[in-house]
Amino acid sequence: MKRATTVRRAWTLATTAIVLCGLVTAARPATAAALPYQDPSLPVADRVTDLLARMSLDEKLGQMTQPERALVSAAQITQYRIGSVLSGGGSAPSPNNPTGWADMYDTFQRGAMATPLQIPMIYGIDAVHGNNNVYGATIFPHNIGLGATRDPDLVQRIGVATAEEVRGSGQDWTFAPCVCVARNDRWGRTYESFSENPALVSELTSVITGLQGAPARILATAKHYVGDGGTTGGVDQGNTQLSEADLRAIHLPPFRAAVQRGVGSVMISFSSWNGQKLHGHRYLITDVLKGELGFTGFTVSDWAGIDQIDGQPGFTQAEIATAVNAGLDMIMVPNDWQLFLTRLKSAVQAGQIPLSRVDDANRRILTKKFEYGLFEQPYADRSYASTVGSAAHRALAREAVRKSQVLLKNANNVLPLAKSGGKLFVAGKSADNIGNQAGGWTLSWQGSSGNTVPGTTVLQGIRDAVGSGTTVTYSRDGTGIDSSYRAAIAVVGETPYAEGQGDRTGVMGLDSTDLSTLDRLRAAGVPVVVVLVSGRPLDIAAQVGNWNALLAAWLPGSEGAGVADVLFGDHAPTGKLPMTWMQSASQQPINDGDGKAPLYAYGHGLTYSGTDPDPDPDPDPDPVPSSCKVTYTTNDWNNGFTANVSLTNTGTAAVNPWALTWSYTAGQKVTQAWSARVTQSGTAVTAAGESWNPGLAPGATVTFGFNASHTGTNPRPAAFTLNGSVCA
Ligand code: GLC
Repeated sequence: MKRATTVRRAWTLATTAIVLCGLVTAARPATAAALPYQDPSLPVADRVTDLLARMSLDEKLGQMTQPERALVSAAQITQYRIGSVLSGGGSAPSPNNPTGWADMYDTFQRGAMATPLQIPMIYGIDAVHGNNNVYGATIFPHNIGLGATRDPDLVQRIGVATAEEVRGSGQDWTFAPCVCVARNDRWGRTYESFSENPALVSELTSVITGLQGAPARILATAKHYVGDGGTTGGVDQGNTQLSEADLRAIHLPPFRAAVQRGVGSVMISFSSWNGQKLHGHRYLITDVLKGELGFTGFTVSDWAGIDQIDGQPGFTQAEIATAVNAGLDMIMVPNDWQLFLTRLKSAVQAGQIPLSRVDDANRRILTKKFEYGLFEQPYADRSYASTVGSAAHRALAREAVRKSQVLLKNANNVLPLAKSGGKLFVAGKSADNIGNQAGGWTLSWQGSSGNTVPGTTVLQGIRDAVGSGTTVTYSRDGTGIDSSYRAAIAVVGETPYAEGQGDRTGVMGLDSTDLSTLDRLRAAGVPVVVVLVSGRPLDIAAQVGNWNALLAAWLPGSEGAGVADVLFGDHAPTGKLPMTWMQSASQQPINDGDGKAPLYAYGHGLTYSGTDPDPDPDPDPDPVPSSCKVTYTTNDWNNGFTANVSLTNTGTAAVNPWALTWSYTAGQKVTQAWSARVTQSGTAVTAAGESWNPGLAPGATVTFGFNASHTGTNPRPAAFTLNGSVCA
C-alpha cells in the first residue's frame, strides 16, 4: 500500500480540504491526581474500568485511531487524544539510528502524556525480520527461510532478539509475525510466510512467545487475518475462494496457535473471502476470532484497509461503521485521520456504531497498554539501545541463515567445497549485494539492491571462510572464468520487492542477467554451484540439469556468512523445503499432497552425511535397439583433467533411463561431475541422467562433464556403451 511519499501528498490535500471542527471537549486539569487506573497494584481489568469511566467520547475515539508518523504531530496527539502512531515501511526519523527513533518516540509520547488522562500512545512498526526500518539493526532471514529451519526454539530466540532491538529503538509494538499460509508462490508476500503447511506455520508462532515474553517484551501482531496467502492466482489483496472448511483447515490454525500463545493484536487482511472484504467481515472477526478462538487482544486494520470495503477510493462513514461493527478495534488510517475521527464520531452519534462497541474496542486496547507497562513507563527504554545490531544478535542471525539453507542438489557431492587450495570463482548479481540478500522490508518498504545495511555479503562470507592458499575471484557476470578454477559459485535470484509489487503473474524463472552469467560459467566446464537468493521457489527446472549443486538460500538478511558456513561444510545443510518446488510456473498453485509432480517435494533437503537420497535410475536399464554417438573431449593438466561428453541417441526409440558406461585403464578417478550422475567402481565408470532428464528422446543429445585425477597419462576410453549397446 501507499508509503511515506504518497502519504505526504495525501496529507497536503487533506489539511487544505478539511475545516477543523470542535472535535475535542474543553481541556480538563492538566494532571489528574493518582487515580485507581494509575495504580499498578490494581488488577488490569479494574484499572481499565476506572479509566473508561473517566473518558469522553472523543478520548475513546482517539484511542481507536492510528495515523502515520509523518502526518501527525505531538500537539495533534494531545489535541485529538490519539492513541497510537505507526511507521509505514521505511518511514523513519532523521537520524535513522536508535537515538533518533527513541527521541521521536518520546516526542510523540509527550504529546499523549499532555492529555488530561495521560493515556500513553503505543507505537507500531513492521519489525518483520529484525527491526528492519532502523539502520544498523540486525536483519534476520525472512520467514520463508525460518520455515526451512523447522526450529521453533530458534525462531523464538529471534523473537527475543527482535524485541530487544525494537525496545532499543523506542518502539513497543511490531506488526509481526505474518502467520500467512502461502499457497501460491506467485504471491509477492510468499517470503513473509513460514510455509504452505499450516501446521509448520502454527509451530513457528513461537516467535510470538519470544517477542511478548522477553524482558524487553513488545506487543506482537498475528497477521493478516485470514486467508491472505490463499487468494486465487496468488494475487496480493485478492480473493480467497475457499469453502469454510478449507479456510478453517488451511488458514485458521496459525491464528488459533497465536491466540493460544496470547498474541496481543491481530491485523486484518486486505484480502476477501469469497468476495467479501475481511475488513468488514463480522462473522470471521467477531464470531470466529474473538468468539470461537477467544481472542482478547485488539484488532487493527491494515494500511487504509477500510477504504477497500466498498470498492471505492477513500472511506465513508458507512465503511467506518461496517468495519468497527465487524470487530475492528483500531483503525490504521495513515493519511486522513482527522476526517476519520469526524466520521467515526458522526457514526457513533447517529447510532450506527453502538457505544458498547466503542467501549469494547477501548477495553481491548487499554488492557494491552496496561499489560505492557506503558502507564508506568511511557517513554523509550534506552537500556536496550546497545543490542541494536549487536554481535550476539548477528551471531544468532548467522545461525538462522545456516539452518535455513536447503540443499536441493549436490551431484557427486561437489559440496562441501574445500576451503584450501586452487582457485574459486564467485559470480552473480547477488553475491556482493546485501540489499538483494535482505529483500523487501529493509530500510525501505520495498527494500533495494546495493550496499544498504551493515552486515556481510555471501561473497564476504566466502572470502572469510577460505584459507590463505585459496584465490577467490569475483566477477558479477562471470567474465574471466576459465577451467583453471576448481569450482564456480553463482549467487543469483530475485531483487527486492514487497507486497503486490512482488506478485509474479507471468514467468517465474531467473532473469536474463542471471541466465547469461550461468551460461558463461557453464561454458568454462568447471563445476557450478548455484546459490539461489529468492523470496520463493523459482522455475529453474530447465537449467538445474547444468548445475552441479543448488542451494536455496532464500532471503538470508544481513549475515550472509551463514551461507558460506554451509558451502564449506562448517555446518552441514539441515534445511527442509517449507514450500513445494514447482517443475513449471504453470503448476502454480502447487502444494504438498495436491497430486502434482514437483521438481522438489515439500520437505526435500539434502545434507552432507550421505549420498543423494533421490532414487537412482533403474540399475538395469532395458537393452535398447537404438544406437548412439558419443563425443569425448578433455582438458588435461599435470595430474588431472576436465572431461566434456556429449551423448546423442541416434536410434529411433527413446532411451529412458539412459546409462553410459566406459572404462579407464590408467588409474583415472572421477572426482566431481555436473549435469549427470557419474559414479565409478574400480575402472568402470557410469554416467546416468538427473532426476529430471533421465531419458533421451530419439535424436536428443545430453552433455555432461566431470573433473578427474590421473597418474601421469590420460588415455581415452576404448568404447562407450549406452544401455548395453556400443556407441559410435
Ligand atoms: C502494509 C502491510 C502490512 C503492514 C502495514 C503497515 O500494507 O499489508 O503487513 O503491517 O501495511 O506497514
